[in-house]
Amino acid sequence: MSKIILTGDRPTGRLHVGHYVGSLRRRVELQNSGEYDKIYIMIADAQALTDNFENPEKIRQNIIEVALDYMSCGLDPAKSNLFIQSQVSELTELTFYYMNLVTVSRLQRNPTVKNEIQLRNFEASIPVGFFTYPISQTSDITAFKATTVPVGEDQLPMIEQAREIVRKFNTIYAPVLVEPEALIPDNEACKRLPGTDGKAKMSKSLGNCIYLADEADEVKTKIMNMYTDPLHLKVSDPGHLEGNTVFTYLDAFCKDEHFERYLPEYANLNELKEHYQRGGLGDMKVKRFLNNVMQETLEPIRSRRKELEKDIPAVFDVLKAGTDVAREAAAQTLSEVKSTMRINYFEDAELIRQQAAKYEA
Ligand code: TRP
Repeated sequence: MSKIILTGDRPTGRLHVGHYVGSLRRRVELQNSGEYDKIYIMIADAQALTDNFENPEKIRQNIIEVALDYMSCGLDPAKSNLFIQSQVSELTELTFYYMNLVTVSRLQRNPTVKNEIQLRNFEASIPVGFFTYPISQTSDITAFKATTVPVGEDQLPMIEQAREIVRKFNTIYAPVLVEPEALIPDNEACKRLPGTDGKAKMSKSLGNCIYLADEADEVKTKIMNMYTDPLHLKVSDPGHLEGNTVFTYLDAFCKDEHFERYLPEYANLNELKEHYQRGGLGDMKVKRFLNNVMQETLEPIRSRRKELEKDIPAVFDVLKAGTDVAREAAAQTLSEVKSTMRINYFEDAELIRQQAAKYEA
Protein backbone atom coordinates (compact mmCIF):
# COMPACT_ATOMS: atom_id res chain seq x y z
CA MET A 1 0.00 0.00 0.00
CA SER A 2 1.31 3.46 -0.74
CA LYS A 3 2.30 5.73 2.10
CA ILE A 4 0.54 9.05 1.99
CA ILE A 5 0.74 12.03 4.33
CA LEU A 6 -1.95 14.62 4.85
CA THR A 7 -1.86 17.32 7.43
CA GLY A 8 -2.51 21.02 7.78
CA ASP A 9 -3.05 24.09 9.87
CA ARG A 10 -5.73 26.70 10.32
CA PRO A 11 -4.62 30.03 8.86
CA THR A 12 -5.53 32.20 11.82
CA GLY A 13 -2.09 33.75 12.25
CA ARG A 14 1.58 33.23 11.62
CA LEU A 15 2.99 29.91 12.76
CA HIS A 16 5.07 29.82 15.92
CA VAL A 17 7.74 27.61 17.45
CA GLY A 18 5.04 25.42 19.03
CA HIS A 19 3.86 24.49 15.53
CA TYR A 20 7.48 23.96 14.58
CA VAL A 21 8.45 21.41 17.23
CA GLY A 22 4.93 19.96 17.41
CA SER A 23 4.65 19.09 13.75
CA LEU A 24 6.42 21.22 11.10
CA ARG A 25 9.92 19.94 11.82
CA ARG A 26 8.69 16.36 11.60
CA ARG A 27 6.89 17.00 8.32
CA VAL A 28 10.07 18.28 6.74
CA GLU A 29 11.99 15.21 7.97
CA LEU A 30 9.30 12.90 6.61
CA GLN A 31 9.30 14.78 3.33
CA ASN A 32 13.05 14.42 3.00
CA SER A 33 13.06 10.76 4.08
CA GLY A 34 11.78 9.85 0.63
CA GLU A 35 9.58 7.17 2.23
CA TYR A 36 6.28 8.69 1.24
CA ASP A 37 4.59 8.35 -2.11
CA LYS A 38 2.55 11.51 -1.73
CA ILE A 39 2.52 14.38 0.73
CA TYR A 40 -0.36 16.82 1.01
CA ILE A 41 -0.06 19.86 3.25
CA MET A 42 -3.27 21.80 3.58
CA ILE A 43 -4.06 25.34 4.63
CA ALA A 44 -7.32 24.67 6.48
CA ASP A 45 -9.14 27.91 5.74
CA ALA A 46 -12.61 26.33 5.64
CA GLN A 47 -12.02 24.84 9.07
CA ALA A 48 -10.70 28.18 10.34
CA LEU A 49 -13.94 29.78 9.18
CA THR A 50 -15.99 27.49 11.44
CA ASP A 51 -15.06 29.70 14.37
CA ASN A 52 -14.06 32.84 12.47
CA PHE A 53 -17.03 33.10 10.14
CA GLU A 54 -17.56 36.72 11.11
CA ASN A 55 -14.03 37.59 10.17
CA PRO A 56 -13.18 36.05 6.81
CA GLU A 57 -10.65 38.82 6.19
CA LYS A 58 -8.45 37.46 8.97
CA ILE A 59 -8.34 34.05 7.32
CA ARG A 60 -7.78 35.59 3.89
CA GLN A 61 -4.81 37.61 5.13
CA ASN A 62 -3.20 34.63 6.82
CA ILE A 63 -3.16 32.20 3.88
CA ILE A 64 0.08 33.67 2.62
CA GLU A 65 1.59 33.80 6.12
CA VAL A 66 1.10 30.09 6.61
CA ALA A 67 2.34 29.32 3.09
CA LEU A 68 5.49 31.37 3.71
CA ASP A 69 6.02 29.69 7.07
CA TYR A 70 5.64 26.26 5.48
CA MET A 71 8.08 26.90 2.69
CA SER A 72 10.59 28.68 4.87
CA CYS A 73 10.68 25.66 7.21
CA GLY A 74 11.71 23.51 4.28
CA LEU A 75 8.47 22.14 2.91
CA ASP A 76 9.40 21.91 -0.74
CA PRO A 77 6.62 22.21 -3.32
CA ALA A 78 8.53 19.77 -5.53
CA LYS A 79 8.05 17.11 -2.87
CA SER A 80 5.02 18.25 -0.87
CA ASN A 81 1.79 19.34 -2.36
CA LEU A 82 0.67 22.57 -0.67
CA PHE A 83 -2.99 23.48 -1.17
CA ILE A 84 -5.95 25.49 0.13
CA GLN A 85 -8.81 23.52 1.65
CA SER A 86 -11.77 25.64 0.53
CA GLN A 87 -10.70 25.41 -3.10
CA VAL A 88 -11.20 21.65 -3.10
CA SER A 89 -14.98 21.53 -2.97
CA GLU A 90 -14.96 17.72 -3.11
CA LEU A 91 -14.01 17.86 0.56
CA THR A 92 -17.31 19.43 1.57
CA GLU A 93 -19.24 16.93 -0.49
CA LEU A 94 -17.55 14.04 1.30
CA THR A 95 -18.38 15.67 4.61
CA PHE A 96 -22.07 15.60 3.78
CA TYR A 97 -22.05 11.83 3.31
CA TYR A 98 -19.87 11.18 6.36
CA MET A 99 -22.31 13.16 8.50
CA ASN A 100 -24.67 10.21 8.26
CA LEU A 101 -22.14 8.04 10.04
CA VAL A 102 -21.68 10.17 13.17
CA THR A 103 -24.00 10.87 16.08
CA VAL A 104 -24.37 14.14 17.93
CA SER A 105 -23.40 12.47 21.20
CA ARG A 106 -20.21 11.09 19.66
CA LEU A 107 -19.21 14.59 18.57
CA GLN A 108 -20.05 15.92 22.03
CA ARG A 109 -17.71 13.37 23.54
CA ASN A 110 -14.76 14.34 21.33
CA PRO A 111 -12.31 15.79 23.91
CA THR A 112 -10.81 18.34 21.52
CA VAL A 113 -14.23 19.64 20.51
CA LYS A 114 -15.32 19.71 24.16
CA ASN A 115 -12.29 21.73 25.12
CA GLU A 116 -12.56 24.12 22.18
CA ILE A 117 -16.26 24.73 22.85
CA GLN A 118 -15.30 25.83 26.36
CA LEU A 119 -12.47 28.02 25.15
CA ARG A 120 -14.76 29.83 22.74
CA ASN A 121 -17.72 30.13 25.13
CA PHE A 122 -19.84 28.18 22.70
CA GLU A 123 -21.53 26.11 25.45
CA ALA A 124 -24.88 27.85 25.17
CA SER A 125 -25.00 27.86 21.43
CA ILE A 126 -22.60 26.02 19.16
CA PRO A 127 -22.47 26.83 15.46
CA VAL A 128 -23.22 23.60 13.60
CA GLY A 129 -20.25 24.10 11.30
CA PHE A 130 -17.87 24.28 14.22
CA PHE A 131 -19.49 21.34 15.98
CA THR A 132 -19.07 19.13 12.94
CA TYR A 133 -15.53 20.07 11.99
CA PRO A 134 -14.16 16.67 13.05
CA ILE A 135 -16.26 15.21 10.22
CA SER A 136 -14.84 17.71 7.78
CA GLN A 137 -11.37 16.85 9.03
CA THR A 138 -12.13 13.21 8.25
CA SER A 139 -12.87 14.25 4.69
CA ASP A 140 -9.55 16.10 4.49
CA ILE A 141 -7.71 12.97 5.53
CA THR A 142 -9.65 10.32 3.64
CA ALA A 143 -9.95 12.27 0.38
CA PHE A 144 -6.25 11.69 -0.10
CA LYS A 145 -6.26 8.14 1.31
CA ALA A 146 -3.76 9.39 3.85
CA THR A 147 -2.06 6.68 5.89
CA THR A 148 -0.14 9.09 8.09
CA VAL A 149 -1.19 12.34 9.74
CA PRO A 150 1.63 14.19 11.52
CA VAL A 151 -0.07 16.47 14.04
CA GLY A 152 0.20 17.87 17.53
CA GLU A 153 -1.06 15.77 20.40
CA ASP A 154 -4.24 17.83 20.72
CA GLN A 155 -5.36 16.40 17.39
CA LEU A 156 -5.37 12.75 18.51
CA PRO A 157 -9.14 12.67 19.20
CA MET A 158 -9.68 13.98 15.66
CA ILE A 159 -7.75 11.11 14.15
CA GLU A 160 -9.56 8.62 16.38
CA GLN A 161 -12.87 9.98 15.16
CA ALA A 162 -11.68 9.78 11.55
CA ARG A 163 -10.73 6.14 12.05
CA GLU A 164 -14.20 5.38 13.38
CA ILE A 165 -15.87 7.02 10.41
CA VAL A 166 -13.62 5.10 8.02
CA ARG A 167 -14.43 1.79 9.70
CA LYS A 168 -18.12 2.51 9.62
CA PHE A 169 -18.05 3.56 5.99
CA ASN A 170 -16.02 0.54 4.95
CA THR A 171 -18.33 -1.81 6.85
CA ILE A 172 -21.59 -0.42 5.53
CA TYR A 173 -20.54 0.20 1.92
CA ALA A 174 -17.22 -1.27 0.79
CA PRO A 175 -13.63 -0.96 1.92
CA VAL A 176 -12.55 2.00 -0.17
CA LEU A 177 -11.35 4.33 2.61
CA VAL A 178 -8.00 4.11 4.38
CA GLU A 179 -7.69 4.23 8.17
CA PRO A 180 -5.16 6.91 9.02
CA GLU A 181 -2.59 6.90 11.76
CA ALA A 182 -1.54 9.95 13.73
CA LEU A 183 2.13 10.71 14.14
CA ILE A 184 2.83 12.82 17.20
CA PRO A 185 6.17 13.88 18.69
CA ASP A 186 7.67 11.46 21.19
CA ASN A 187 9.39 14.23 23.12
CA GLU A 188 7.11 15.55 25.89
CA ALA A 189 8.32 19.14 25.50
CA CYS A 190 7.48 19.08 21.79
CA LYS A 191 4.00 17.74 22.43
CA ARG A 192 2.96 20.77 24.41
CA LEU A 193 5.39 23.63 24.16
CA PRO A 194 4.25 26.30 26.63
CA GLY A 195 4.13 30.02 25.98
CA THR A 196 7.15 32.11 26.96
CA ASP A 197 5.24 33.14 30.11
CA GLY A 198 4.96 29.51 31.19
CA LYS A 199 1.24 29.33 30.41
CA ALA A 200 0.20 26.05 28.83
CA LYS A 201 -1.42 27.65 25.84
CA MET A 202 0.49 29.73 23.32
CA SER A 203 -1.75 32.42 21.98
CA LYS A 204 -1.46 35.60 20.06
CA SER A 205 -3.72 37.45 22.49
CA LEU A 206 -1.52 36.47 25.44
CA GLY A 207 1.55 37.72 23.56
CA ASN A 208 3.51 34.67 24.67
CA CYS A 209 4.52 33.19 21.31
CA ILE A 210 7.80 33.17 19.46
CA TYR A 211 6.91 33.28 15.79
CA LEU A 212 8.99 31.68 13.07
CA ALA A 213 9.07 35.04 11.33
CA ASP A 214 10.22 37.02 14.40
CA GLU A 215 13.41 39.03 13.95
CA ALA A 216 16.50 37.90 15.87
CA ASP A 217 16.23 40.71 18.41
CA GLU A 218 12.54 39.98 19.10
CA VAL A 219 13.38 36.33 19.71
CA LYS A 220 16.16 37.35 22.06
CA THR A 221 13.94 39.73 24.05
CA LYS A 222 11.26 37.05 24.40
CA ILE A 223 13.80 34.50 25.60
CA MET A 224 15.40 36.92 28.06
CA ASN A 225 11.95 37.60 29.56
CA MET A 226 10.98 33.96 29.72
CA TYR A 227 9.38 32.47 32.80
CA THR A 228 11.79 30.31 34.81
CA ASP A 229 11.72 29.21 38.42
CA PRO A 230 10.22 31.86 40.73
CA LEU A 231 12.07 30.31 43.70
CA HIS A 232 15.46 30.61 42.01
CA LEU A 233 16.29 34.08 43.31
CA LYS A 234 20.05 33.95 43.74
CA VAL A 235 22.45 32.18 41.42
CA SER A 236 23.52 29.98 44.34
CA ASP A 237 19.94 28.82 45.05
CA PRO A 238 18.99 25.35 43.85
CA GLY A 239 16.75 25.66 40.77
CA HIS A 240 13.71 23.65 39.76
CA LEU A 241 13.05 22.23 36.32
CA GLU A 242 9.32 21.49 36.52
CA GLY A 243 7.36 24.22 34.82
CA ASN A 244 10.60 26.02 34.00
CA THR A 245 9.96 27.27 30.50
CA VAL A 246 13.59 27.81 29.56
CA PHE A 247 14.38 24.16 30.24
CA THR A 248 11.23 23.00 28.47
CA TYR A 249 12.36 24.94 25.39
CA LEU A 250 15.84 23.43 25.70
CA ASP A 251 14.24 19.97 25.84
CA ALA A 252 12.47 20.78 22.60
CA PHE A 253 15.28 22.50 20.72
CA CYS A 254 18.73 21.64 21.96
CA LYS A 255 21.04 18.87 20.77
CA ASP A 256 24.38 17.78 22.21
CA GLU A 257 26.24 19.53 19.40
CA HIS A 258 24.88 22.87 20.60
CA PHE A 259 26.90 22.43 23.78
CA GLU A 260 30.13 22.02 21.83
CA ARG A 261 29.42 25.25 20.01
CA TYR A 262 27.92 27.47 22.69
CA LEU A 263 28.51 26.00 26.14
CA PRO A 264 31.45 23.61 26.04
CA GLU A 265 31.74 23.39 29.84
CA TYR A 266 28.80 20.97 29.70
CA ALA A 267 28.58 17.82 27.60
CA ASN A 268 24.82 17.76 27.35
CA LEU A 269 21.51 18.99 28.70
CA ASN A 270 21.53 16.56 31.60
CA GLU A 271 24.73 18.05 32.97
CA LEU A 272 23.30 21.53 32.65
CA LYS A 273 20.11 20.47 34.42
CA GLU A 274 22.05 18.85 37.25
CA HIS A 275 24.06 22.00 37.82
CA TYR A 276 20.91 24.11 37.82
CA GLN A 277 19.25 21.87 40.38
CA ARG A 278 22.36 21.84 42.59
CA GLY A 279 22.51 25.64 42.56
CA GLY A 280 25.21 27.91 41.24
CA LEU A 281 23.90 28.31 37.71
CA GLY A 282 22.15 31.56 36.87
CA ASP A 283 19.05 31.91 34.69
CA MET A 284 20.76 34.45 32.44
CA LYS A 285 23.44 32.00 31.42
CA VAL A 286 20.84 29.37 30.56
CA LYS A 287 18.77 31.91 28.66
CA ARG A 288 21.78 33.07 26.66
CA PHE A 289 22.43 29.46 25.71
CA LEU A 290 18.79 28.93 24.71
CA ASN A 291 19.00 32.08 22.64
CA ASN A 292 22.03 30.73 20.76
CA VAL A 293 20.29 27.41 20.15
CA MET A 294 17.06 28.99 18.94
CA GLN A 295 18.75 31.59 16.78
CA GLU A 296 20.68 28.82 15.07
CA THR A 297 17.43 26.99 14.38
CA LEU A 298 15.38 30.00 13.36
CA GLU A 299 17.94 31.96 11.34
CA PRO A 300 17.79 29.78 8.19
CA ILE A 301 13.99 29.77 8.37
CA ARG A 302 13.87 33.55 8.68
CA SER A 303 16.26 34.15 5.82
CA ARG A 304 14.44 31.71 3.53
CA ARG A 305 11.25 33.55 4.36
CA LYS A 306 12.79 36.88 3.37
CA GLU A 307 13.71 35.39 -0.01
CA LEU A 308 10.21 34.01 -0.53
CA GLU A 309 8.63 37.33 0.46
CA LYS A 310 10.27 38.92 -2.57
CA ASP A 311 7.98 37.02 -4.90
CA ILE A 312 4.55 36.60 -3.33
CA PRO A 313 2.77 35.89 -6.64
CA ALA A 314 5.07 32.88 -7.05
CA VAL A 315 3.93 31.56 -3.68
CA PHE A 316 0.30 31.86 -4.76
CA ASP A 317 1.24 30.01 -7.95
CA VAL A 318 2.63 27.19 -5.81
CA LEU A 319 -0.66 27.03 -3.88
CA LYS A 320 -2.69 27.11 -7.05
CA ALA A 321 -0.72 24.29 -8.67
CA GLY A 322 -0.92 22.28 -5.44
CA THR A 323 -4.64 22.87 -5.21
CA ASP A 324 -5.15 21.58 -8.77
CA VAL A 325 -3.33 18.37 -7.90
CA ALA A 326 -5.26 18.01 -4.63
CA ARG A 327 -8.59 18.52 -6.37
CA GLU A 328 -7.84 15.76 -8.83
CA ALA A 329 -6.97 13.31 -6.06
CA ALA A 330 -10.03 14.25 -4.00
CA ALA A 331 -12.31 13.95 -7.03
CA GLN A 332 -11.06 10.42 -7.62
CA THR A 333 -11.89 9.42 -4.03
CA LEU A 334 -15.25 11.17 -4.12
CA SER A 335 -16.15 9.28 -7.24
CA GLU A 336 -15.21 5.97 -5.58
CA VAL A 337 -17.22 6.93 -2.51
CA LYS A 338 -20.28 7.79 -4.55
CA SER A 339 -20.20 4.64 -6.61
CA THR A 340 -19.71 2.60 -3.46
CA MET A 341 -22.76 4.30 -2.00
CA ARG A 342 -24.61 3.57 -5.21
CA ILE A 343 -25.21 7.22 -6.00
CA ASN A 344 -23.65 7.09 -9.43
CA TYR A 345 -26.88 6.77 -11.43
CA PHE A 346 -25.80 8.22 -14.73
CA GLU A 347 -22.62 6.18 -14.89
CA ASP A 348 -24.48 2.98 -14.17
CA ALA A 349 -25.82 1.61 -17.45
CA GLU A 350 -27.01 -1.51 -15.62
CA LEU A 351 -29.27 0.54 -13.36
CA ILE A 352 -30.87 2.24 -16.30
CA ARG A 353 -31.43 -1.09 -18.07
CA GLN A 354 -32.97 -2.58 -14.90
CA GLN A 355 -35.33 0.29 -14.41
CA ALA A 356 -36.36 0.11 -18.04
CA ALA A 357 -36.96 -3.64 -17.73
CA LYS A 358 -39.17 -3.06 -14.71
CA TYR A 359 -41.60 -1.11 -16.87
CA GLU A 360 -41.38 -3.20 -20.04
CA ALA A 361 -43.73 -5.96 -18.95
N1 TRP B 1 -7.33 20.88 13.02
C1 TRP B 1 -6.05 21.21 12.51
C2 TRP B 1 -5.53 22.42 13.34
O1 TRP B 1 -6.18 22.85 14.24
C3 TRP B 1 -6.04 21.58 11.05
C4 TRP B 1 -6.53 20.50 10.17
C5 TRP B 1 -7.65 20.54 9.38
C6 TRP B 1 -5.95 19.22 9.98
N2 TRP B 1 -7.80 19.40 8.72
C7 TRP B 1 -6.79 18.56 9.04
C8 TRP B 1 -4.83 18.58 10.50
C9 TRP B 1 -6.52 17.26 8.65
C10 TRP B 1 -4.60 17.26 10.10
C11 TRP B 1 -5.44 16.60 9.19
O2 TRP B 1 -4.48 22.94 13.05
